[in-house]
Amino acid sequence: MKQDLLTFKDWSAQQISDLLSLAIKMKTTPADYQDSLKGKSVVALFEKPSLRTRVSFDIGIHKLGGHMVYLDSQANKLVGREDASDTAANLACWADAIVARVYSHSTLETFSQSAKVPVINALCDKYHPCQALADYLTLAENYEQLQGLTLAYIGDGNNVTHSLLLMGAILGVNVISVTPLGHEVDEEILQIAQSIGEKTGAKIVQDHDLRAAKGADVLYADTWISMGDTTALDQIKQIFDPYKVDEALMAMTGAKYVMHCQPAHRDLEISGSLIDSDQSLLMQQAENRMWAQNAILATLLK
Ligand code: CP
Ligand code: NVA
Repeated sequence: MKQDLLTFKDWSAQQISDLLSLAIKMKTTPADYQDSLKGKSVVALFEKPSLRTRVSFDIGIHKLGGHMVYLDSQANKLVGREDASDTAANLACWADAIVARVYSHSTLETFSQSAKVPVINALCDKYHPCQALADYLTLAENYEQLQGLTLAYIGDGNNVTHSLLLMGAILGVNVISVTPLGHEVDEEILQIAQSIGEKTGAKIVQDHDLRAAKGADVLYADTWISMGDTTALDQIKQIFDPYKVDEALMAMTGAKYVMHCQPAHRDLEISGSLIDSDQSLLMQQAENRMWAQNAILATLLK
């Protein structure tokens, strides 16, 4: 039976650890994996812009001996031109996997039901699982063990936050989401992460007070205005300014490292100087997108 990657929430710690180990092996000895996707074609459909996801999938698939077809659904509005179920069923006639960045998670569910090949979530309104895997890979490279670490996410609670919460809970990493009022993470996803955390020992918290991030090992920032959000910057700044991740917040919390999924907005959600500092893991995260995704592709297309 085919396996999709829509959320990671039903994956076990062992399955995710296996992906992390494979990603590290691929990064260390890439030549050993140059034929992993030999003769395979992957379609990547994007309803929203992308730099990292698009390029890391394309180059990553090439490194595994496969081929990627990019479908621009921003200019050509492929989603909506016909039923999403028909789009997916057609793509599966030719492709060995479908990678999709969509507005609504329900589009991915339709793709998953209608395509006979694996569907990989390249970001939707609710989740960004490929980002989370790359981020925990980055932490695994910087700490001897993930279990017991504390990551504090500061900002708008949405897709990236949800995936960090879920994967953190599975891996035994404490994840604290600190958001302004009205920008909390999805209650249902929070509860799922908390119930996973009860079994793995991970503390999963949603708070509004920045002091909740005290003692975190790592702070994590994301844009204050996600793709598709039309709120004016001036309005957002008033709400989010106190939640800026900068040197003062690093000092207050005692965090050693700072992370950001990017695109980052210098001196808005994160200070430019912090991005450029020794505390920044941003480029390591970006590089790891490719290795994490290659591990996912090789596993789902085995
Ligand atoms: N982090 C991330 O997904 O970046 P892109 O939007 O550039 O793909
Ligand atoms: N929350 C951001 C993540 C970008 C990678 C967005 O959805 O735009």
